Amino acid sequence: MTTRAKPHKRPSLPLGTPTRRAAMRLLDAVLRRGEALEAAFTAATRDIVSPPDRGLAHAIAAETLRRLPDLDALIDSATRQRLPDDAKARMALRIALAQTLALGTPPHAAIATVLPLVDGGPRRLVHGVFGTLMRQGVALPETPTLPETVAARWRAAWGEETVAAAARAIAAPPPLDLSLRDPAWTGLEGESFAPGHLRLADAGPVPGLAGYDEGAWWVQDLAASIPARLIGAGRGRALDLCAAPGGKTLQLAAAGWKVTAVDASKNRTARLGENLARTALSAETVVADVLGWSPEAPAEAVLVDAPCSATGIFRRHPDVLHRAHGGVIAEMADLQQRILARAADWVTPGGVLVYATCSLEPEEGEAQIARFLADRNDFAVMPPAPGELPEGIAAHPDGHVRTLPGTVEAKGGCDGFFVARLRRASA
Ligand SMILES: C[S@@+](CC[C@H](N)C(=O)[O-])C[C@H]1O[C@@H](n2cnc3c(N)ncnc32)[C@H](O)[C@@H]1O
Repeated sequence: MTTRAKPHKRPSLPLGTPTRRAAMRLLDAVLRRGEALEAAFTAATRDIVSPPDRGLAHAIAAETLRRLPDLDALIDSATRQRLPDDAKARMALRIALAQTLALGTPPHAAIATVLPLVDGGPRRLVHGVFGTLMRQGVALPETPTLPETVAARWRAAWGEETVAAAARAIAAPPPLDLSLRDPAWTGLEGESFAPGHLRLADAGPVPGLAGYDEGAWWVQDLAASIPARLIGAGRGRALDLCAAPGGKTLQLAAAGWKVTAVDASKNRTARLGENLARTALSAETVVADVLGWSPEAPAEAVLVDAPCSATGIFRRHPDVLHRAHGGVIAEMADLQQRILARAADWVTPGGVLVYATCSLEPEEGEAQIARFLADRNDFAVMPPAPGELPEGIAAHPDGHVRTLPGTVEAKGGCDGFFVARLRRASA
């Protein structure tokens, strides 16, 4: 009698495991390789076809990054020996716990979808630790804990209240701010803190909102709208350096300037082009490194929205809390200094130079401008005039603008930004 060998049955993965695998890849990219979450997204989600599942992978990774210190404290409370930071078991537990404790996934689904990620490895450990924590009925603290290095840096720069406000901001979904092409447009209802600004509390998907298709507005955080506000309206030439994806280019073009928008990134400049097309605004776009490029002639207004550590946008990009440390900040500060030095020579006598970064690090803001002014006595700070800044945002006594976690907090907060407007002496 012959017996037929049973076909080898491949274990089937629970539905949803590829999404968790992608979330794990995203965490690995941010935490081990120091990459930005958005930059790692395409490669990490390569196995996933459905856009909602790719969105879920991003949401799981982002929530894990927002809650990392608290998730790790729970994991450490349930293991006899501390798991290394990059151990696969810790990654799997972080993902399972973030889903259950922050995103409302039922515990059985959260653990069933991550266990295949540790097959042939610490499966029993992950299952055991997760089960222990669930039986204990653990919860995450209402206010998240900031990573200690970040808290220490911001405490030293801005004080304890700012650290507390930043922690509160991590837990609160940021509102949606729109900048209007025409400040008189009334197609959506919301709160307005400045001409041409609209804040929507609970907006839903952006492309579904009134006015999107006809380009009546673009998404732009309230603080991010300040640099171009300080340039104001004009009919002359404006240079927007480091311009893509173009929120500030659109503001300048809508305010009447003939804008040349320069950015080193081809992909990001393509998005700038799409944004111009959607809003029917015009600007010349140039893909170039501003350290090697020069304009044909100086301009009345020059905006430098410099590349930076981006720690001010931690609410929407929680990866910066874990990868933008001392070395990154120092490297960015050096690049900003070199860009600013070139840009200054492109301002006509009597013209304005606006320097901005979405960073909460003084090295990329206050210290940068102090050093610049020490080198260039042909420039002076030109403080905002009454009415130039959005409601609830005041200029610093030194004449620049600094928004922090805690700024307009009762109305939904804003990103952390530094903005300085400098006027070049007339010849
Ligand atoms: C803060 S983002 C700009 C955001 C943009 N201003 C807006 O409002 O949408 C900084 C930009 O600087 C660009 N960048 C970085 N280094 C550059 C360089 N050396 N020359 C030109 N652009 C650069 C990056 O590609 C990035 O798009």
